[in-house]
Amino acid sequence: MADLTDQIPERIAISLVVNGVRRTLEVVPWTTLLDALRDRLQLTGTKKGCDHGQCGACTVLVDGRRVNSCLTLAVMKDGAEITTIEGLAKDGTLHPLQQAFVDHDAFQCGYCTPGQICSAAGLLAEGRARDADEIRELMSGNLCRCGAYPNIVAAIEQAMSRS
Ligand code: FES
Ligand code: FES
Repeated sequence: MADLTDQIPERIAISLVVNGVRRTLEVVPWTTLLDALRDRLQLTGTKKGCDHGQCGACTVLVDGRRVNSCLTLAVMKDGAEITTIEGLAKDGTLHPLQQAFVDHDAFQCGYCTPGQICSAAGLLAEGRARDADEIRELMSGNLCRCGAYPNIVAAIEQAMSRS
C-alpha cells in the first residue's frame, strides 16, 4: 500500500517584499496570498470576506496593481512587491485615501474598508476614472454590506482631485 505521506507536496520557499520589507517564507502550494499575509505574516488588515473573488475585501496591491489576494496563490507572486493597508501610511501620516475615508465617514463596520482603500489606490494609479459614475463602475468589485457607497465614492473623488 502506498505511503500517502509521499504524496504531500513539499513546502516551497518564496520571497515577497511586503510594505517595503523583504519577507521569506515556506508555503504549501495551495496557500493563497491572503492566507500568507494574514496567517503567516500576521498582516490581518487585509480581510477575508467570501474567499471566492466576489467581495473585494481581500484586495491588495501587487506590483502596484490591485488584485484579489484570495484568488492569488502566494507561490505565483514569488519576488513581487505587495502593498497592504498596513503599508499605505507614511511616517505617521495617513495616505490621502485613508484621510479621505475619515473625512467622509466612508465606513460603518469597517470590514470592507482595507479592500476599498487598496482598490481605490489601484484605481488612482490606473488613472481611468474621471467622475463619480466611473468610480462606481471601476470600484464595483468591492462590496460594502453596510451600504456606505455614497461616502466611499465621495472619499475617492476627494483623493482623486488632490492627486
Ligand atoms: S475575500 Fe477575496 S474577493 Fe472576497
Ligand atoms: S463598512 Fe461595513 S461592509 Fe463596508
